[in-house]
Amino acid sequence: MPVQLGHDCFDVRRRAFVFAALAVFFLIWTASGPSDAAQAGGQPSASSGAAEAFIGGAIYSADWIAAPNVSDGADGLGPLFNATSCAACHPGQDASLGALGRPAVQAVPHVLRLARRSSGVRRQQSVGLDLPPVTPDPDPRYGAQLQDRAIPGHAAEGQIAVRWAYVKWRLGDGTEVNLRLPRVRVSSPVYGPLSPDVAMSLRRPPPLEGLSVVAAIDESRILSNADPEDRDGDGISGRPGYALDERRGKQVLARFGWKASVASLADQTAAAFSLDMGLSSVRRGLGSGDCTPLQAACRSAVDGASAAKGGFEVSEREIDLVVVYLESLPAPMPSGDTKVAESRGATQFAQLGCAACHRIDLSGTTQGGVRSEVSRDVRLFSDLLLHDMGLGLGDGIAEGTASGREWRTPPLWGLSLRLEDIARGRIQGLLHDGRARTIEEAVLWHGGEGAASRERFWQLAAPDRANFLAYLSGL
Ligand code: HEC
Ligand code: HEC
Repeated sequence: MPVQLGHDCFDVRRRAFVFAALAVFFLIWTASGPSDAAQAGGQPSASSGAAEAFIGGAIYSADWIAAPNVSDGADGLGPLFNATSCAACHPGQDASLGALGRPAVQAVPHVLRLARRSSGVRRQQSVGLDLPPVTPDPDPRYGAQLQDRAIPGHAAEGQIAVRWAYVKWRLGDGTEVNLRLPRVRVSSPVYGPLSPDVAMSLRRPPPLEGLSVVAAIDESRILSNADPEDRDGDGISGRPGYALDERRGKQVLARFGWKASVASLADQTAAAFSLDMGLSSVRRGLGSGDCTPLQAACRSAVDGASAAKGGFEVSEREIDLVVVYLESLPAPMPSGDTKVAESRGATQFAQLGCAACHRIDLSGTTQGGVRSEVSRDVRLFSDLLLHDMGLGLGDGIAEGTASGREWRTPPLWGLSLRLEDIARGRIQGLLHDGRARTIEEAVLWHGGEGAASRERFWQLAAPDRANFLAYLSGL
């Protein structure tokens, strides 16, 4: 049965709180103007940092509304959009707001990216590093993403219909595992048929804790693990992603996003405001977000641009504050109740070859986010590089420097939290599209450069496998 997923109810107390916080922010903003420290990308002092993170958290959780509205602060949503706030897709990240900031709702489980397949093929054929990053070629009518919601008076583009197909797998010792994969379709496409060469890529919102640690890792450290031509012959290449850093105006190593196609947290935030919520900012000037020229009513709708925000719906200052908030979220720590599994598990992790991509110590010994006062040993479990994971995981979309089969190794820190989220129905599962309901399923999907590692995993004797999974479940 197709599952139709939407997101609607909001906690009234949270909404009232967020609007109060936004009003305070607006007063401070108009009184003092942009802070020089944040503008220059420098370090704010501890107390102003905490205040900024608080305000940034309020913007992150605020439900944006359609323009025009008497409140100039948070209008301009849509006309087409996927969610009204960052927190609707990335919930549970707003712990700084206390109990009031906890969303009472299930997160939006995924978005549907759309891009013409042809560019994916071109990319796949050339593995070299000499080609510049590509922006996926969007669907001419629907744009780069299917917006399944719209403000009053406009029609949502359609709904994401997911049907799960099942495949049986047998492990070395005969144990059967049922894997599932999504069959995705756009139901009731309102603006006509999608272009026939369009690939659809279901993407789940990744967790956002610890991103200041990810942002701080030295480029040279990431590059030291890259082996694009597999010179060491271990079957694992690892290519860095590159993208334009939109503020600095130059191409840099890209470490964010499922395909390592985003250079900075500011760029990701601006992109999310535009693509997911239909909000403009200085380098994404369209108030209508992802609406295409073929969606004329959407393109010509009134927007929420405001002089106080530099003529856009979201100001650079607001983007800075959201980034300060994101950087304040500490890195997740191992749940700590798996002492027995721990030492053997770590050895197995190395022996099975997992650590070749899920690098344990890329971040070194780091402070786990600015709010933490104790220095902690943060373990990332990622090389932040792109790997060909085989056809089974491929989406056929070339993005940044990634081909249609490449994905950035996701950090495994906080895996225990994700398993808890799956158990509570807050997320559907692991991997870029949420297809894996367990760690075991996630590993069994590893193809391409991950295939050898997967085969070692499936040869494990049952007690070894149990120990290994217990170790991973504690991360
Ligand atoms: C409609 C759902 C949705 C909304 C709303 C949304 N996001 Fe996301 N976010 C996603 C998805 C899906 C991804 C993964 C995209 C990809 O890489 O393909 C993502 C990725 C990210 C990442 C990259 C994380 C990493 O580890 O690389 C950051 C940071 C982020 N979002 C922040 C935000 C902020 C800030 C907002 C609000 C301005 C926001 N998001 C709004 C769905 C959403
Ligand atoms: C060749 C590099 C590589 C190797 C080797 C590898 N992985 Fe991965 N792993 C990835 C990539 C890339 C993804 C993301 C794939 C996707 O989302 O489609 C991933 C995803 C995962 C996920 C899901 C994480 C999440 O939050 O969604 C888990 C769990 C995981 N790997 C565990 C392992 C284990 C355990 C091993 C060893 C048996 C291993 N991996 C070996 C690259 C690798």
